[in-house]
Amino acid sequence: MSGGTTPALAATRAALAEVLAPVRSSGGRVAFVPTMGALHDGHAGLVRLAREVVGPDGAVVVSVFVNPLQFDDAADLERYPRTLDADLAVCAREGADVVFAPAVDEVYPGGPPQVTVHPGPLADVLEGASRPGHFAGVLTVVAKLFGLVRPDVAVFGEKDYQQLTLVRRMVADLCLGVEVVGAPTRREADGLAMSSRNRHLDAVEREQAAALHRVLAAAAGAASQGVPAALAAARAELREAHGVDLDYLAVTDVGLADLTATASLDELPTVPLEGRVLVAARVGTTRLIDNLPLVLGTTAADVRTTREGDS
Ligand code: PAF
Repeated sequence: MSGGTTPALAATRAALAEVLAPVRSSGGRVAFVPTMGALHDGHAGLVRLAREVVGPDGAVVVSVFVNPLQFDDAADLERYPRTLDADLAVCAREGADVVFAPAVDEVYPGGPPQVTVHPGPLADVLEGASRPGHFAGVLTVVAKLFGLVRPDVAVFGEKDYQQLTLVRRMVADLCLGVEVVGAPTRREADGLAMSSRNRHLDAVEREQAAALHRVLAAAAGAASQGVPAALAAARAELREAHGVDLDYLAVTDVGLADLTATASLDELPTVPLEGRVLVAARVGTTRLIDNLPLVLGTTAADVRTTREGDS
């Protein structure tokens, strides 16, 4: 399969298996991009990356499925945008071979499953603290979709960094044999992370929402001086921001262990230490999340220079 034409649309497990059979029998690799639809340029980047990873002989499968299991609020599930025709056009443009768009009954034929994935303690913090049960729903559907698509590689966006971390953990802990690739967040010109939720922002909120990236960038810029300095810089930006109702701001290591209470560089396990700064906030009625990588103890440029010097 090589992409570039209209992707096959599979609505059932049987249709998906049929369309992937030739790829499997010819030894092509399958790359999978799970989505809930409402595809934007951020998703387009994931599909492009998936194509690059498996090459022209592989198959790129995009799923479009709004998973009821991961919504704790019925109104949120109800208002989640469903735009299948536009999604198909994005998938065609970006070289996907198959769009798997099943109905809820096809994924959960007997109603909600009795056996689900327990995501462990990492699901109780950050997003999980505000959205109980969310990551159990996410990991359960991702495990099911992995079972149906049987991908060699799966591509997830770094924007949902906690989701990406938990999917990696599930794949490792349950030996699922899927290579998980994280794709950098795509941003609008003012830094706002691309998200299907952005369409709920009115013009004023849209402008206010750009503050989230400034908050993260301030933290990353001050990270060389340690966690307290990074947090102080972020909080200073937050004080300047209008209309941003903060849920959390955290500095963690790359595995999401909280470093917020780390008082000095001496308390870090190593210096420099690669980490993450994460934020969640409500702008109007829309809850937005974002994150950036940071390097604690030295500047990102120093780390890059050292690595380049090493090679
Ligand atoms: O990131 C998403 O869109 C969803 O959480 C996912 C991974 C498709 C599972 O429903």
